[in-house]
Amino acid sequence: MSADTGVLERTRAVGAPAAIRREGELILKVDGLSVHHGSVCALDGVSLEVRKGELVALVGSNGAGKSTLLRTLSGLHTPRAGTIHYLHQDVATLKPAQRVEVGMAHVPEGRRVFAPLTVEDNLMLGAFSRRDRRDVLLGDLEEIYGLFPILREKRTLAAGTLSGGQQQMLAIGRALMGKPRLLLLDEPSMGLAPLLIAEVFNVVRRLQQQGMTILIVEQNATAALELADFGYVLEAGRVTKAGKGFALSNDEEVKKAYLGI
Ligand SMILES: Nc1ncnc2c1ncn2[C@@H]1O[C@H](COP(=O)(O)OP(=O)(O)O)[C@@H](O)[C@H]1O
Ligand SMILES: [Mg+2]
Repeated sequence: MSADTGVLERTRAVGAPAAIRREGELILKVDGLSVHHGSVCALDGVSLEVRKGELVALVGSNGAGKSTLLRTLSGLHTPRAGTIHYLHQDVATLKPAQRVEVGMAHVPEGRRVFAPLTVEDNLMLGAFSRRDRRDVLLGDLEEIYGLFPILREKRTLAAGTLSGGQQQMLAIGRALMGKPRLLLLDEPSMGLAPLLIAEVFNVVRRLQQQGMTILIVEQNATAALELADFGYVLEAGRVTKAGKGFALSNDEEVKKAYLGI
């Protein structure tokens, strides 16, 4: 095979996912997104989509551009090129707080809970953009406590006293208090012990079963792809592979590069 054919094959492989039919309303559509940090090109023409009720995983190694993507979706970085449509609306002019208001919730890398505030105050802060009555919010709080019983137990404690895994639950709970229509999760398993990683992914699975639409970015490719309805592989700011989550988790190249097999 000539080198040229190799390139062609590769290009075709990258293009192929478009042929995979995906059902459901389009919630997020990213087209040709490029983002630079000064002279560093972090994202180079990234396109992807997330449909209603899907769990979509974007996997890639450290520095691939995963956090840059989520931060750009949330309005924290300005793209140099490309578009982001959320519920068919171009969000370019929306500020970060407005994106939260329309239902895009971002759980940042490293959790970022408000350490001196109580667990319950952290959760209630997640509802800051809502205009619902307090009894409605308290009802939602009960739902969060149902999902994370440990947070109910610790609700009067300062968030800073929680373990890493519990802080991750809190960060997710806080995002859910905003009643999002799209949950953006940045490496929820990062820095956690294996048992807690499994617990976090169990929560993600339960949210998926409840019909939440989720875009998760992860270095932990195995766990994320096995759960995901659809997956993308990000390498040095470019999507190099896309496909059904299960198929990608069994893809020989992906296994070699990301799953350490
Ligand atoms: N604020 C920043 N300033 C300069 N370079 C950055 C900044 N944030 C990220 N980068 C660079 O952009 C690239 C992508 O980073 P990032 O999106 O954090 O990757 P990932 O989340 O996949 O680890 C890396 O080369 C990183 O060093
Ligand atoms: Mg990151």
